[in-house]
Amino acid sequence: MIRFEAVSKRYGRGTYAVEELDLEVARGELCVLVGPSGAGKTTVLKMVNRLVEPSSGRVLVGGQDVSLVDRVELRRRTGYVIQQAGLFPHLRVADNVASVPRLLGWDRARVRRRVDDMLALVGLEPSVYAPRYPHELSGGQAQRVGVARALAGDPPVLLMDEPFGAVDPLGRERLQQEFLRLQGQLHKTVIMVTHDIDEAVTMGDRIAVLAQGGLLQQYATPAEVLAHPATAFVAGFVGADRGLRRLAVTPIDEGDLYMPPVVSPSTTLAAARAAVEAEGIDWAVVVGAGGELLGWVEPGRADDGVSGVGASGAVAPLVRPLEAVVSLGSSLKVAFAEMLQHDAGWVAVLDKGRYLGVLTPDGLHAALRRSVGGQPVEPAGLAQSGM
Ligand SMILES: Nc1ncnc2c1ncn2[C@@H]1O[C@H](COP(=O)(O)OP(=O)(O)O)[C@@H](O)[C@H]1O
Ligand SMILES: [Mg+2]
Repeated sequence: MIRFEAVSKRYGRGTYAVEELDLEVARGELCVLVGPSGAGKTTVLKMVNRLVEPSSGRVLVGGQDVSLVDRVELRRRTGYVIQQAGLFPHLRVADNVASVPRLLGWDRARVRRRVDDMLALVGLEPSVYAPRYPHELSGGQAQRVGVARALAGDPPVLLMDEPFGAVDPLGRERLQQEFLRLQGQLHKTVIMVTHDIDEAVTMGDRIAVLAQGGLLQQYATPAEVLAHPATAFVAGFVGADRGLRRLAVTPIDEGDLYMPPVVSPSTTLAAARAAVEAEGIDWAVVVGAGGELLGWVEPGRADDGVSGVGASGAVAPLVRPLEAVVSLGSSLKVAFAEMLQHDAGWVAVLDKGRYLGVLTPDGLHAALRRSVGGQPVEPAGLAQSGM
């Protein structure tokens, strides 16, 4: 849907900012341009909406050479989000978001509805935020408004230049996840620029690694880039700990799960004890009739006198809530973070809300080995990685 054909850009008679770039981004795909500062990422992005004109080659959007499309028309069809959000400081949030719909000539009621919908979409309560001015927003809120504004005209293409760069690390991770969820609904064709390899790996369907001069080093899925860096430059850029980075792009596999004994709330304590003893562990997962996860029990630990549950009574009063939970398909990184956050020995894995099994440290280790293709895994490195 977006195609660069032998695109070069030189500023004046200087060296190339971008040289002979060939790149194709499929419709509905999120492509991340990643590389060090000065690599030409912003220049590449700006050639899509003609903020920069190529010195040679051409850029096609939806099969159309953008140099033949009216600039204003092109920008209506191309959402653009930049660092610090780039909001119009003298306009209220509502008017910032309304700018493209008004350009498109929508009537007032429709513009208003659209503004409210867009703010809600990015998690900002319209009645609270619509009347505010940009200086009354936090960095994260301003970025959300930037995304809302870029999406307001429902453009098929979204260009994002370091959109979360000015947000603190925690806020950035949240914005990344929210944007991914949004993209899962909207399926825009997105080109996003970042110099942060972790952000690229998290966000991209495919990532294009650029070196100085806009030289494309590799264009592949994050897993592929991490597993098989195409050049020494890419290997250096993704870092020696790329094996750990692969945690972020390796989904939990059903084969990695451990199946501990499962009981229901009405299972008797005696039966639950027998089940865990047979397995040689001291806990069981409690699942409801609909397959939903209810918690866990340690039947061996229940003192009949204290708990008031006799061996023939049900385990229901002994069920403890289980906080460490992830969905099948989540990354190993998410599972590991969940384990650490809840100080849990294992995490329960759900598939569409139904309990499936648990991921234990052994399972995580096996999955990690699988993901790094048999490279040695050093637990000390895990502990220090700060994930
Ligand atoms: N308007 C400009 N005039 C001259 N040189 C520029 C201009 N914009 C960018 N450059 C140069 O082009 C190269 C690529 O810049 P840029 O696309 O901004 O890189 P990145 O976004 O990867 O940091 C850099 O060497 C930069 O100095
Ligand atoms: Mg830049």
